[in-house]
Amino acid sequence: MRRTRCYSPAGSARRGGDLEFTIKAHEGGLVSRHLYEHARAGTVLGLSAAEGTFTLPSPRPDGVVLIAAGSGITPVLSMLRTLVDEQYPGAVSLLYYARTPADVPYADELARLATRRGVRVQVRHTATDGHFTAAHLKDVAPTFAQLPAYLCGPPALMDAVRELYDAEGIGEQLHTEAFTPPALTVPAEGVGGRIRFVRSGVEVTGDGRTLLEQAESAGLTPEYGCRMGICFSCTQRKVSGVVRTSAGEQSAEDDEEIQLCVTAAAGDVDIDC
Ligand SMILES: Cc1cc2nc3c(=O)[nH]c(=O)nc-3n(C[C@H](O)[C@H](O)[C@H](O)COP(=O)(O)OP(=O)(O)OC[C@H]3O[C@@H](n4cnc5c(N)ncnc54)[C@H](O)[C@@H]3O)c2cc1C
Ligand code: FES
Repeated sequence: MRRTRCYSPAGSARRGGDLEFTIKAHEGGLVSRHLYEHARAGTVLGLSAAEGTFTLPSPRPDGVVLIAAGSGITPVLSMLRTLVDEQYPGAVSLLYYARTPADVPYADELARLATRRGVRVQVRHTATDGHFTAAHLKDVAPTFAQLPAYLCGPPALMDAVRELYDAEGIGEQLHTEAFTPPALTVPAEGVGGRIRFVRSGVEVTGDGRTLLEQAESAGLTPEYGCRMGICFSCTQRKVSGVVRTSAGEQSAEDDEEIQLCVTAAAGDVDIDC
């Protein structure tokens, strides 16, 4: 069976040649652990075309703020490398969080990039410096309120930064990329229906979680990739019934393709899975 996951290229968009990925080995993670333990020169992997909207603006603004933590370094490092390669004349500030100095990927390169004209890099260690604060951001990017910002990291960092930008009234300047899916909630009246996974002969009661999570809890192993509606790996046919998506759309159409990871039952549902 082919397993699909999304990974952000870390390389500069201005250089051709090899693609570079940096993948954190998750405890219990299927694909990341497999790659960590088995990927070797010569391993063949399938790649689909790059997609997404987490990209640098064009034309370039006067300055750019980059904020990341953990494996969220990959897309913002790509942006930083790209700006340096194209000799971007503006100011670019990177605020990066890792637990300890030993947990900082690309530490030497970040130190080198910080010596380039217009580039400021601040690496914070959460074990000693604590988590994100407005003071950390102002320290590395005093004019952040006038600049677009690109943020990628775990949910707690994303929430803290979003809260600051919203409080400052500059929420529209913040661009985000999440690696982990947000929770999907279904209104109480939609919960309690019967979900039937027809091919497997398994029946469960809708509890507001996604159909993917409900299938997994029932012991099924449907294919998935991003778990947030990006990659379509989890697409299955809904035979009949009412579902609600994370975007708040409800559908009662028969015989339609749905993404199990961003859809929950909003009544009785039959899935061809
Ligand atoms: C746009 C995008 C870009 C990304 N870029 C990167 C990147 O550059 N680098 C990077 O390291 N990652 C990146 N990711 C994350 C990556 O796609 C994977 O999610 C990550 O590698 C984990 O995959 P896995 O197969 O190892 O873990 P999985 O097996 O999918 O599990 C993920 C986590 O969920 C838990 N889990 C698994 N199954 C269940 C279950 N049934 N119920 C409850 N919990 C469960 C596991 O224990 C694990 O902690 C990106 C994600 C997205 C959406
Ligand atoms: S798992 Fe990627 S769209 Fe559902």
